[in-house]
Amino acid sequence: MYRKYTSELQAQNDFGLTKDKNANMAKKDAKDYTIDELWGMLSKSDSKSLLKKHLTKDVYEKYKNVKTSLGGTLADCIRSGSCNLDSGVGLYACDPEAYTTFKNLFDAVIKDYHKVSGLNHPKPNFGDINKLDFGDLDPKGEMIISTRVRVGRSHEGYSFPPSIKSSEDRKDMEKKTIEALNTLEGELKGKYYSLETMSKEDQKQLIDDHFLFKDDDRFLRDAGGYSFWPEGRGIFHNPSKTFLVWINEEDHLRFISMQQGGNLAEVYKRLVNAINQLEKKLTFAKKDGYGYLTFCPTNLGTTLRASVHIKVPKLAAANQLNDICAKFNLQPRGIHGEHTESEGGVYDISNKRRLGLSEIEAIEEMRKGVQAVIEAEKKLK
Ligand code: ADP
Ligand code: ARG
Repeated sequence: MYRKYTSELQAQNDFGLTKDKNANMAKKDAKDYTIDELWGMLSKSDSKSLLKKHLTKDVYEKYKNVKTSLGGTLADCIRSGSCNLDSGVGLYACDPEAYTTFKNLFDAVIKDYHKVSGLNHPKPNFGDINKLDFGDLDPKGEMIISTRVRVGRSHEGYSFPPSIKSSEDRKDMEKKTIEALNTLEGELKGKYYSLETMSKEDQKQLIDDHFLFKDDDRFLRDAGGYSFWPEGRGIFHNPSKTFLVWINEEDHLRFISMQQGGNLAEVYKRLVNAINQLEKKLTFAKKDGYGYLTFCPTNLGTTLRASVHIKVPKLAAANQLNDICAKFNLQPRGIHGEHTESEGGVYDISNKRRLGLSEIEAIEEMRKGVQAVIEAEKKLK
């Protein structure tokens, strides 16, 4: 039943839910297309992506023969969006320099996605985590199933997938990260599990339980995100799986805090503690005005996505979920993450903007939006 409502949301082209309509149009491997072919496929299409909107003929001509010092090209950046015309965004940074080398294109997409007029991302500000003015968003446990907050980080001095040329680099990053993670104490203390040695059964269980990433996202695959899979990839977590770190999925690093129920304050505090400790051991790539650098321009800035898995069957049935999410700068996703379907009226709802506001402001934006969603769902009862 809810599939229908999801499809209606999809038709409105919000970027977190699956859209099967224009599924992968590529006839050969994405990496085998030339820049001219990619441009041809994109420019002739009716794609609604931000890439299609902002890669004008002039911008294409300006950049088609330009390379970053690591050898990254415009083709590397637009491969995913040109082969997947149903992309919402469609652009990835071939390497950290892409944000400078292909500035006109990236800036336009970034401003459009994060709804900012300039690239003046503020310095990190996590707020006073001992004086947060929120706690549990659903104290009676009526609607929120679980809460998760994640940030992405890139190791300074390393490239992003399309320009990572040797397996050494991923192995190096993995080693550095494990060393830093092994210094964590108390609640954050845990163990690393490499995907290279993990059994298929364990992998499946962790994926089904929402802890581990998959390798079946065609957008990320065509961007080069799965090259040399599973080399250098893995997951670290504490015994209760409330603190987790993904190594070399889409980004070099994803730090994740999650737990059952709606206690956003507990989840956020745990994540901030982890970031503060890890920042002392590792150096992350940053750029003035852009914040922390990530592979995908949607994740720049704070890189923070705070989400709840929430039951909103009435809003979905009344076809009001998309409107309320748009009003509060929220993004609905399906139950198994981005580009998946909702099941049983349960959605993953999170802040959509990550750049142009501080970490605590992004959390507040999500909190206010989720509270509005809860109120609206209750009114329909
Ligand atoms: P991200 O970009 O934040 O890593 P994805 O959409 O790729 O997010 O989802 C990654 C995994 O995290 C998926 O298994 C998804 O179901 C899970 N997840 C996201 N938010 C929550 C939440 N609030 N509670 C439980 N699992 C969640
Ligand atoms: N490239 C995909 C699209 O445009 C995903 C964009 C955001 N998500 C991400 N995981 N980076 O739809």
